[in-house]
Amino acid sequence: MLMRTLAWMQCCLLCVTVAMAQDRSASDPQESPEKLAGTWHCQFETPFGVQTYHLHFTEDDRGGTTANAEVESGDQTREVQFSDVKRRGDSISFAEVRQFGEREFRIDYQAELQGRDLLVSRSFGERGGQESTATREPPKPVPAASTEPVVEVEIDRLIKDAFKDSFLIGMAGDLPTRYSDAELKLAAEHFGSITPENCMKPERIHPAENRWQFEQSDALVNWARKNGMTVHGHTLVWHAQTPNWFFEGDDSETIKQRMKNHIETLVGHYKGQVQSWDVVNEAISDGGDAKTAETEHLRDSNWLRALGPDFLTLAFKYARQADPDAVLYYNDYNIESGPKHASSLVLLKRLLDQGAPIDAVGIQGHWRSGRVPFDDIEKAITDYASLGLKVSITELDVTIRGESGGQFGRRRFRSSAPPSLEDLNAQAEDYAKLFAIFEKHQNVIERVSFWGLNDRRTWRRGQHPLLFDANNHPKPAYAAIVRESGPSGGDEASVPSGQIEVEDGE
Ligand code: XIL
Repeated sequence: MLMRTLAWMQCCLLCVTVAMAQDRSASDPQESPEKLAGTWHCQFETPFGVQTYHLHFTEDDRGGTTANAEVESGDQTREVQFSDVKRRGDSISFAEVRQFGEREFRIDYQAELQGRDLLVSRSFGERGGQESTATREPPKPVPAASTEPVVEVEIDRLIKDAFKDSFLIGMAGDLPTRYSDAELKLAAEHFGSITPENCMKPERIHPAENRWQFEQSDALVNWARKNGMTVHGHTLVWHAQTPNWFFEGDDSETIKQRMKNHIETLVGHYKGQVQSWDVVNEAISDGGDAKTAETEHLRDSNWLRALGPDFLTLAFKYARQADPDAVLYYNDYNIESGPKHASSLVLLKRLLDQGAPIDAVGIQGHWRSGRVPFDDIEKAITDYASLGLKVSITELDVTIRGESGGQFGRRRFRSSAPPSLEDLNAQAEDYAKLFAIFEKHQNVIERVSFWGLNDRRTWRRGQHPLLFDANNHPKPAYAAIVRESGPSGGDEASVPSGQIEVEDGE
C-alpha cells in the first residue's frame, strides 16, 4: 500500500517545459556562481522516468527567500511553490507539500552550494531519499519524434467571431510571462477572454499574510486590456493551492478576517479590470451516492473545518462588496453528472436562500473524448438556469485517451504515442456536439473558456486536449466547432487553411 502511495505520488510529481525554464535561466544578474539566488536545474531518477526540476530562488527585500519550481516529467508539467524555505549562508532547505484528496505528502529538500554547483538532496520521510547535482545550465531537450499524421484543416472564421453573438470564447494561461510571441499572437487572435491559470491563486498572489505578489497578474490584466480581452479571475476560495498561513491558529474569527482581507484586497485591486470571479472553487466532494445526493456533500476542506458551511456565503458577500459589478461564480468539476450534480443543486439553492450574491455557475468541463456526458451537460445547464443562474464552461478540455476530470493528484494517463487521425476526428466530433449544446443554450451561457492555449500549454499535456497542436496549428476540432456555428457570414477575418502537422505527443 505504501509502495503504491509512493508510486502514485511520484507519478504526480511532474512538470513544466524545458523551453519555459530556459527562457528564465540565461541572464539573471543575481546568478553569480557563489550565490544561491536565481535559477538552477536538476534531475531525479524515479521509477516513472526522469523528473527535471527548474528551481527558482528569489531573495526578497526583507532578507527572506522564496523558492518555486517548474517540474517536468515525461509529457506532464506542474508548478510548485515550496514552503518552509530557510536559508543559511550557502545552504537552503524547503518543502514540497502535495495534497492527494484528504492526504498530504511532504518531501523535504536540502541544498548546498558546492563550487559552481548546488548539491540537492530530498527525503520522503521513512521512504528514503535521493540526491542530485543542480547546475545553472538547463539539461538538453530531447528531440521530438516526427511520426505525426498530417491533417488538412479548413477554417474560414476565427472561433471568437463565429460565436460572437452567442458567448465569449476564452482560454487559460499566465500570459504574457514566458509565452512566445507566436503563442501570444495566437491567444490574442482567437480568444476574447483570459483566465489566469495559476498566477491569481492564493499561493501565488498572497504567499504570506503580509506579502502580495501582484506583478504577474498585473502584467496579465494589462496584456488582456491591450488586446481587448476580458479577464475572468481564478480563484478566491479553494482547498488547493492555498497556503497554510490562512488556517494557522484555531480561531475562526481570525481565519474569517483573513478570507475577508484576501478577497477585499484582491478583488479591490482589480475592480473594473477583472469582469468576473470564481469566488469558490470545488467545494463539493467527489463521488457520492443516493444518500449524499440529498445533501450538499461538502468537501472536508480547511475552509469548511474553520468556518463551517457558511464559508461560501461569506466569500460571495465579501466579493460583492469589493466589486459590485463583477459577475460572481461558483466553479466545480463533474457537477453536471450523478450525485455531485444533485449536491450542487442543494448547495446552490441554499446559497441563494441565504442571500449569497451568486450570479453564475462554472462547469469546468474536463472531459474525455468518447465519454463526454452530453445529456447530463445539457440537463445541468437547464437546471442551473432554472435557479436564475448564468452558466459558463470555464475550463474546457477534451482529452484523447486517458482520464480527464478536475481532480488533483490523480494518476494521469501518460502516452508517448501521437494521436491518430481517427482520434483527432473523434475529438472534433465531441467538440462539435458540445458546441451545438452550448449554442442551443446561448441565452444562459456567458462564456466558454478552454483550459490552456495549445497541446503544449495544457495541464493535460500528452493527452492532446485542445484546439491547437503543440506547434500552434489548428486541429480538426477547431474546424468542427466553427462549422457548428453555421455558415460564414463572409465579413469575419479568415484563417489560412492548409496542411498541418499534428503534434507528436512528446
Ligand atoms: C491547474 C493548472 O492548470 C496547473 O498548471 C496547476 O499545476 C494545477 O492547477 N481545476 C481548477 C484549476 O480549477 O485551477 C486547475 O488548474 C485545474 C483543475
